[in-house]
Amino acid sequence: MEWVYIEDLQARIDQEVEIRGWVHNKRSSGKVRFLLLRDGTGILQGTIYSPDKDDPLFHQFDRLTLESSCIMRGRIKAEKRAPGGLEMNISELQIVQVAEVYPITPKEHGTSFLMEHRHLWLRSKKQHAILEIRTELIKAIREFFDGRGFRCLDTPILTPSACEGTTTLFETEYFDQKAYLSQSGQLYNEATAMAFGKVYCFGPTFRAEKSKTRKHLIEFWMVEPEVAFATLKDIKRLGEDLIVSIIQRILESKSHALAVLERDPVPLQNVRTPFPEITYEDALDLLKHKGHSMDFGDDFGAPEETLLSEHFNSPVCVTHFPAKIKAFYMQPAEGRPDLVLGLDVLASEGYGEIIGGGQRIHDPELLEQRIKEHNLPREAYAWYVDLRRYGSVPHSGFGLGVERMLSWLCGIKHIREAIPFPRLLYRIYP
Ligand code: 4AD
Ligand code: MG
Repeated sequence: MEWVYIEDLQARIDQEVEIRGWVHNKRSSGKVRFLLLRDGTGILQGTIYSPDKDDPLFHQFDRLTLESSCIMRGRIKAEKRAPGGLEMNISELQIVQVAEVYPITPKEHGTSFLMEHRHLWLRSKKQHAILEIRTELIKAIREFFDGRGFRCLDTPILTPSACEGTTTLFETEYFDQKAYLSQSGQLYNEATAMAFGKVYCFGPTFRAEKSKTRKHLIEFWMVEPEVAFATLKDIKRLGEDLIVSIIQRILESKSHALAVLERDPVPLQNVRTPFPEITYEDALDLLKHKGHSMDFGDDFGAPEETLLSEHFNSPVCVTHFPAKIKAFYMQPAEGRPDLVLGLDVLASEGYGEIIGGGQRIHDPELLEQRIKEHNLPREAYAWYVDLRRYGSVPHSGFGLGVERMLSWLCGIKHIREAIPFPRLLYRIYP
């Protein structure tokens, strides 16, 4: 009998097949036994019918505990009342392992218990649905960039210098030197962009952030495009197109998983390009009108981000930030040297910043000056300055945080559920 995955069963009606999985649930009713088997791609109901209460299949069935692994074989038939509309008449039941008492039960568990059992929690329906959407999100991102001719050139994780400020660096030994875990592949992207025109990198990034919020991970995944000759305006359009294309793809192909999460699709369906655009200074004015006074140079916190996206009822692009709150590489705005051409995209529904990026400095002298002002070691950035010495061009890019985007898509409250094994301020187990 052929081993088939549950998601491929539609084509197997009236055929005999084999399903390998874990016991999701089981129940008995008179002469019938129902076994719900989960194989990672779906859940299938298997039934055993027998007038004989000593039927050996019943004995096998009785030995199965929650999450026991087993193989069931039998004929597939359409059955409206079964979950998924299909059912198997079990003719053989082979036990692989009888599981010990499973610690996660349908009753409510506290977050710390669930996080402690993350390796098992992944099997639960909602967690499974979130991660199912994650795999599709990653596919959607890659296809978006590959389809537009971007070259995927991944950047190193062990680096000799900081990209996003020195306060959140993870330091490690690199033989007799120091190295840092990458906070962003951007600086290297700028080099490959000058070699390939338009590029992206997609990998894990690390921030030793001492903040314990619902939006921060210590290790997260980021996709970062970089385009030579592109300006702030070009990169804004690229970011919007990326977000809308991801949303459409998830709505089309993962509606079932969204339903498991009870995610209302309407706010996602309503996302349209172009996103409203506001400068940092205009945003300050707007927030002031709404009773949220901030000083020039303050960073938006979660309440301000939420107010802005609620005001526009859409994701919002914020641009032209004070230079002093942004990274050393940002291009100043024309006629306003105190502002830089940064771009933050804030998701709607209070999900906050999902994209950070902007236009980069292309003038070698200005870049040298910034490196000095930020007290960065000149030697470590010599190669980066070189990019401005040999055919320098204006260029722009951004980073989209995968887990932030996924949290918004799924409508989940905390980013820790958006990655299989979250690294958090006080947690590195499991
Ligand atoms: O705004 P950030 O720090 O920008 C950069 O790293 C640029 N160098 C990217 C570039 O231009 N190539 O980070 C970009 C995005 C944020 O908008 C957010 O989505 C995500 O990365 N992010 C985090 N996600 C989870 N946990 C954290 N601690 C994050 N920090 C940033
Ligand atoms: Mg940012």
